Amino acid sequence: MIDIHSHILPNVDDGSPSFEESVKMLEASVADGIKSIVATPHMFSQLSKIKEIERFRKIFSEFKIKADELNLGIEIFQGSENYFISGLKEKLKAFPDILTINNGDYFLLEFPMNFIFPGTREFIFDILNEGYIPVICHPERNTDIQMNTAILYELLVAGALSQLDAGSIRGDFGSNSREAANKLLKNNLVHAIASDCHDAGLRPPGLSGIKNSLNWIEQEKMDLFLKYIPAAIINNEGTPDIGPLKDPSISRSVFSIFRRNK
Ligand SMILES: [Fe+2]
Repeated sequence: MIDIHSHILPNVDDGSPSFEESVKMLEASVADGIKSIVATPHMFSQLSKIKEIERFRKIFSEFKIKADELNLGIEIFQGSENYFISGLKEKLKAFPDILTINNGDYFLLEFPMNFIFPGTREFIFDILNEGYIPVICHPERNTDIQMNTAILYELLVAGALSQLDAGSIRGDFGSNSREAANKLLKNNLVHAIASDCHDAGLRPPGLSGIKNSLNWIEQEKMDLFLKYIPAAIINNEGTPDIGPLKDPSISRSVFSIFRRNK
């Protein structure tokens, strides 16, 4: 399995507090069967500070060298969890090695927890036109999407991808997130599932534990969520087709899908 969302980098955000904790997280990931993991620290206001970007770059490269020396059996890639703020497009262009996943076209996009900004759909169109592909992190935890899943449907029709948190499926974020996660899965509005791990305990690594809860989903689909689409994202390839997206609100025709196939 491949985990495209994690906070394993030590001392950069609310994730791992130490190198030792990061190693525990990597070891737990390996034990769970994860072969590759993307370090995706939160990017909020740091986006406006070049010195902070350079600090992240240095922390990642030093961490990767030290972690690789341990030969834990897991490949580590760079990414970021980019909060949706103005200027994000310019920053993606300026610092793709830090802000995109493995210096490719895909990037994690985080919305506010309680609402969706006006203009989000326009941003998605604009950023796709620029050649970047947003992967919307944990949409099931956003209050507006919980109340109106069609918001996400529209963004995916435009060409964005979506990534659920394993913790939402476990119920770690409450019943609203769990119900929304299941609704998104039932409407075929999910491309990947990731751990979004923050430590080795409360918000742990690992993806295999969700399989029991999702035993109603066929194995081929689970492989898409946990292996093939994450692999395509890391390798900057076109993602495998997940089939038709289902509009959760009303039936209407969709005129076109702008997802790029490389
Ligand atoms: Fe995260």
